[in-house]
Amino acid sequence: MSAKILDGKAMAAAIKTALREKIDSQGIKPGLAVILVGENQASKVYVGGKEKDALEVGFLSEMFRLPENTPQDDILKLVKELNARKDINGILVQLPLPKHLNEELITNSIEPMKDVDGFTYNSAGRLFTGSKGLVACTPKGCIEMIKATGIDIKGKNAVVIGRSNIVGKPMAILLLAEHATVTICHSRTKDLPSITRQADILVAAIGKTKFVKADMVKEGAIVVDVGMNRDENGKLCGDVDFEAVKEKASYITPVPGGVGLMTRAMLMSNTYEAFLMQRDNK
Ligand code: GUN
Repeated sequence: MSAKILDGKAMAAAIKTALREKIDSQGIKPGLAVILVGENQASKVYVGGKEKDALEVGFLSEMFRLPENTPQDDILKLVKELNARKDINGILVQLPLPKHLNEELITNSIEPMKDVDGFTYNSAGRLFTGSKGLVACTPKGCIEMIKATGIDIKGKNAVVIGRSNIVGKPMAILLLAEHATVTICHSRTKDLPSITRQADILVAAIGKTKFVKADMVKEGAIVVDVGMNRDENGKLCGDVDFEAVKEKASYITPVPGGVGLMTRAMLMSNTYEAFLMQRDNK
């Protein structure tokens, strides 16, 4: 079998077009504020992409590019101001932050209703308990891609490789909410291939180049690749050995052109959702 490619570029474009139409027809302008501290090159690229998307969908986009040595109190003060602003509906602090800053404290200073990354304790707790809230963009994008296959998640064996707070754990909870039987694997898991081979849905989020090989994948599985790595030639690639695994899977996400673009699109839909929550809860 040669897998169908889940085209993140096309899916993200459709989501953004639909958002643009919604905000134009309602005459509204959701606002997104992004804070970048320091000179991390990857972060600069990510933040640039977020700004481009926000402008494309017609949002108010405010970028705060702060120097590496910005004191923590200045960032907390900025977040407090943004929390209070009516024209800003979503706030995102790009991670990682420079070493002198407390990521946990700064992230949790964001008003939960504006937490478009879904990283605060409040958002994580809502996800955990199944109450309405903003959901982390990458796992949310992965679920959208799995749903796009048209295959019912209910009752399927889903295996997530990776247990990070921003992808692995929320991904597992979202799959559970869709009634999958979920297994989380990680670096200490014994005989990983025997577990991944049982997966109808396999999500790889470990940050290891081409780690998932064809013999780790069940025939006909849906394979979602969250990895963003460089191979030996410096080429962008995922956690999945795409060329080999696509001969075994029924659906697969490519890297680039897969989950990454959907993550960005989900940030836009979270900003729109945040706008609606703030308007309707007044
Ligand atoms: N750094 C890497 N990915 C992300 C993300 O999704 N959000 C934020 N805020 N920082 C990141």
